Amino acid sequence: MGKFSEGLLNDEMILKNLTICPGQTILDAGCGNGYMAIKFSKLVGDTGKIYALDSDRGLIANLRKEIGKKSNIDAIVGDITKRTALKDASVDLVYLSTVFHIFPDTEIVCFENEINRILKPKAQLAIININKEDSPFGPPVEMRYSPEELRQKLSFVPKKCIDVGKHFYMQLFIKR
Ligand SMILES: C[S@@+](CC[C@H](N)C(=O)[O-])C[C@H]1O[C@@H](n2cnc3c(N)ncnc32)[C@H](O)[C@@H]1O
Repeated sequence: MGKFSEGLLNDEMILKNLTICPGQTILDAGCGNGYMAIKFSKLVGDTGKIYALDSDRGLIANLRKEIGKKSNIDAIVGDITKRTALKDASVDLVYLSTVFHIFPDTEIVCFENEINRILKPKAQLAIININKEDSPFGPPVEMRYSPEELRQKLSFVPKKCIDVGKHFYMQLFIKR
């Protein structure tokens, strides 16, 4: 895997299971090149809003150029393990793809607090991780989380877990 998961995931399967509706607000946290944020933006339409957030300024600058000014995507530099610019209880879905393994344990707690703050009640968190087994790309196996390990790390209510590509799973959670 290079810097992004584009081309490696089953996007159709992901979108089918996220049940995105027009008018929703979605945060693509650690959005990378923002390719999923762009797909989400078409599904939420003009009445919806996408926040594409990444700690890498260069990636956000590129995404801003790509989407132009007339977009329902707000591309922002930020750290999802710290307080972001998003308002309390304002987000219907947080999407975090191939980012979780990067967080040290101390940052997982901060990540969870921030997601809890910005999600609406009963809203969704979707985490995509690479499977915890040898693969031709990706981080060392010791850094990866199995679905069970991921569920133990977070206090959100686990919903379903599905395969979203040969080497990846998506765990859906609901805010309590
Ligand atoms: C492996 S890439 C995945 C990018 C994208 N989500 C995808 O699936 O293609 C990880 C991304 O997370 C970003 N990132 C890492 N830690 C972050 C943090 N604490 N807050 C926001 N972004 C972060 C990195 O800059 C990088 O763009």
